[in-house]
Amino acid sequence: MDLVTEKPQSTDVWTDDLSVGVDIIDEDHQAFFRLADLLRDIMGSPDKNQDMLVETAINILEEYVKGHFLREETAMATIGYPLLAEHAAAHEAFAARAHQIAQDYKSGNKEVAATINDLVRRWIVGHIRTMDMQYRGVLTNENVDNRPMAYLTADENDQADGWP
Ligand SMILES: [Fe+2]
Repeated sequence: MDLVTEKPQSTDVWTDDLSVGVDIIDEDHQAFFRLADLLRDIMGSPDKNQDMLVETAINILEEYVKGHFLREETAMATIGYPLLAEHAAAHEAFAARAHQIAQDYKSGNKEVAATINDLVRRWIVGHIRTMDMQYRGVLTNENVDNRPMAYLTADENDQADGWP
């Protein structure tokens, strides 16, 4: 291994080579790492509130997944990004997996909690390095909505409810 030119490949932490060149998307991606850290910490130090904490973290993960994917896909749709359909399909597959894990946990399969931290890290790193890097230079700070995720999901809910 060439120690000088070898780029960090660790899935434990965010590294600059994961940047897609859009500040808010990099921030979203870093938030996934922090959420994985939180889950690792909760699982690593058993506490009387562990169950509630895991459930809270899983709920946040589902919200993050929804909001972040919406941010990327809305920007892609706005600029007519040609790879939107396949990118959205990859998002959908991960969202379904995260939802399944959340359901499993809530229905009593507590062992799944130990796998989430690693799953999130591995998925996000793999997805950034392959699919997200394809929009590097195409999605920019100028054409991506940089408001907090809650506003994006609220907008979408308004549209579903018939608000303008
Ligand atoms: Fe993506």
